[in-house]
Amino acid sequence: MSCDLAIRVNGVSKCFEIYDNPRDRLLQMLFRSRRQYYREFWALRDISFEVPRGETVGIVGRNGSGKSTLLQIICGTLSPTAGSVMTNGRVGALLELGSGFNPEFTGRENVYMSGAVLGLTRKELDERFDDILSFADIGEFIDQPVKSYSSGMVVRLAFAVQSQVQPDVLIVDEALAVGDARFQAKCFDRLKRLKDNGTSILLVTHSGEQIVNHCSRAILLNAGSVVVEGKPRTVMNRYMDLLFGRERALENDNDSVALSPDTLADQNATSDTKLDFSSDVYATRFGYNAHEYRWGDGAATLLDFMLKANNEEFPTVILSGAKMHLSLAVRFNMQIVRPILGIEIRTKEGVTVGGTNSELVYCEELFALGAAESTAVAAVDFDLDLAAGDYFISLGISSRRGDDIIPHDRRYDSIHMTVSPTPTFYGLVDLKLAMTAATR
Ligand SMILES: Nc1ncnc2c1ncn2[C@@H]1O[C@H](COP(=O)(O)OP(=O)(O)OP(=O)(O)O)[C@@H](O)[C@H]1O
Ligand SMILES: [Mg+2]
Repeated sequence: MSCDLAIRVNGVSKCFEIYDNPRDRLLQMLFRSRRQYYREFWALRDISFEVPRGETVGIVGRNGSGKSTLLQIICGTLSPTAGSVMTNGRVGALLELGSGFNPEFTGRENVYMSGAVLGLTRKELDERFDDILSFADIGEFIDQPVKSYSSGMVVRLAFAVQSQVQPDVLIVDEALAVGDARFQAKCFDRLKRLKDNGTSILLVTHSGEQIVNHCSRAILLNAGSVVVEGKPRTVMNRYMDLLFGRERALENDNDSVALSPDTLADQNATSDTKLDFSSDVYATRFGYNAHEYRWGDGAATLLDFMLKANNEEFPTVILSGAKMHLSLAVRFNMQIVRPILGIEIRTKEGVTVGGTNSELVYCEELFALGAAESTAVAAVDFDLDLAAGDYFISLGISSRRGDDIIPHDRRYDSIHMTVSPTPTFYGLVDLKLAMTAATR
């Protein structure tokens, strides 16, 4: 294998034998060749990829897509049914199941044992022990048996050991998700240092932010096969498509292209005319979330939407801070007095980051609409000053009957937006924090 490569995975497949009951397993052992008492389950099918030296490659995929199985095969703790894996140099691993620590021994003893497994001498470990301890930051627990540790503490110690031995290849399976935010930040700092020193990293995570921020390439696995391999942003888009059922496939892998002011003006003028006012085409639009929750009495219908970010129509990934323009085609199926348009933006965990309605912002144009059998266009402009992540837009048309609000068409979480990272702030919202300083 070329020394420019850290990992080469060549046509790896993995088949598990699934037995419906223990009896079948026994029969299979007794009558090995006569009959098959198990079902085959192919967890991986013909996986091939390479990790060049010094690169950090991310692997994403739904639960059960085969990520951990693949990492175990690369680490050598599981053997492939077909294909082969080659790794160059010392391989360190932080796997999902267990740290490799013996729960009966103390943290200190485990540090020495796993260090030895990784090829370090006692002297080398003695020299590095203080660093390991200060990185893990688990205090007196270092002399307690590992079985008394919290899962976060186990990961802290395991990461401290693995990163101190300077592996040539480091394999991380979601382990970092267990640590608290401060520890995660410390780990990524350490990962960056390892990377700078030439360690190649294979990272499995569900966090799009980690993939985009820390990886130079990414691989999307689905049902045991590679769906796409490429730039982190492109791969994350495809992953979101898989998770949230976007209708339209990505047409190209290019990052968004900056448009000239002339083309922008043209697009602004025509964008609202691209809305369809004749039928409910909402679900065919890019960014539509097939898992929306829709309800209402049907007296009005949200027929169509058009989302623009910095004048780019139906953006795949949106830069934090983008000027957003959302236009909507609405149909009033019967007369509605003073229709109300509502909008809310939530995180994928369901936290509301902002919302309003046409009564709160006093949108007079809307009050006058609502004639039976009429259609209308409504638009919402906003600054997307949000941190990297996935967000959903909920929309609704309603009206008042006395003190009650009558929902006509509510489409909760019906539009999905992916915001790309901005390194200038952390938290959920960009408060445009500015700093100044001077000598006095
Ligand atoms: N020892 C086993 N015997 C039978 N099936 C297994 C075994 N290990 C894993 N599988 C199956 O293989 C598939 C892939 O599992 P794997 O743990 O690799 O998924 P994953 O992508 O890591 O998922 P997650 O995101 O939940 O960690 C799953 O359907 C799982 O049930
Ligand atoms: Mg897993």
